[in-house]
Amino acid sequence: MIVDSSTENIVLAAAVLRGGGLVAFPTETVYGLGADASNRKAVARIFAAKGRPCDHPLIVHLAETGALERWARDIPPVAWRLAERFWPGPLTLILKRAPGVADEVTGGQDTIGVRVPGHPVALALLRAFGGGVAAPSANRFGRLSPTAALHVRDEIGGAVDCILDGGECVVGIESTILDLTAERPRLLRPGVIHGEDLAAVLGAFPVGRLGDAPRVPGEMPSHYAPGAPLRLAGRDELERTVRALRATHGAVAVLAMISAPEGQTAGWRQMPGEPELYARELYARLREADASGSRFIVVERPPAVASWEAVCDRLERAARGSCRPSPHQTHSR
Ligand code: TXA
Ligand code: MG
Repeated sequence: MIVDSSTENIVLAAAVLRGGGLVAFPTETVYGLGADASNRKAVARIFAAKGRPCDHPLIVHLAETGALERWARDIPPVAWRLAERFWPGPLTLILKRAPGVADEVTGGQDTIGVRVPGHPVALALLRAFGGGVAAPSANRFGRLSPTAALHVRDEIGGAVDCILDGGECVVGIESTILDLTAERPRLLRPGVIHGEDLAAVLGAFPVGRLGDAPRVPGEMPSHYAPGAPLRLAGRDELERTVRALRATHGAVAVLAMISAPEGQTAGWRQMPGEPELYARELYARLREADASGSRFIVVERPPAVASWEAVCDRLERAARGSCRPSPHQTHSR
């Protein structure tokens, strides 16, 4: 059930969490599927609702940095500095897990992912609840993250006790993940907080930037995949690729930064030429392309420069996922 994010509904949603239920809630990045992180049974329900393998760790969401010590131990000074600079906001820190944190939350690992989200509804819910909320993105495992309450309802609505509507997510792609448990800070997932932003606090760029091998433990290549196969094409091959796929497959959706050539406007969506605006729209446009019954989605390859790293990362995963479906991938259609 979708409810608006009035104070009463936030109080009710916090009560659902206390009772071991599942609450989908907006964050600035994407919608999360939340459960009481200190209740093993509640956390187990997340995995069932998503169809997610249970060794895949969750991020614990906190109302404030001060709550960190309940969840992490041996917190390095740099973690506090990063928290001060970027929280509340779209940065997840991987730290050593504190004693007593359930294996269900960390996928059995000795580390834990934590963040203080920057969305007012998420913060109000976390404050009303008073504890840590374990929350992955509120989609079926391997599918696109939801950036609106309706996406959550359509995909996993039946498995959730309450969906708090907070409008469309402004960031639109998942948080940057930085691992602080290795010898050097390591970027596990690029996001709108860039390596350069982190370097300003760390004093050096994190390792594991663009071009490195798979970074997040347990991450499947099929992550972030839409239902229809997705193909990336450079600007100069875009028109030819679309023409060829239309000839063989019929309906083809296109997301491009350039406008449609004459006679090719059907199914062609012009995307923003600026990475943060592009990220905000990306998942909703891919969902639309899927819903329109397209047999293929062709996306103009964004520039291979640092400011586009996070968007390129999601698109490349989506393209890989659609040509090599993993055994865990669950098709919603
Ligand atoms: O923006 C976000 O981060 C959203 C919102 C809801 O906060 N959440 C999100 O969660 O994207 P999820 O579960 O879809 O992706 C979290 C990623 C997973 O790929 C997981 O492997 C990684 O974080 N992760 C969590 N804990 C980890 C740990 N201890 N070590 C390494 N990776 C971890
Ligand atoms: Mg996810």
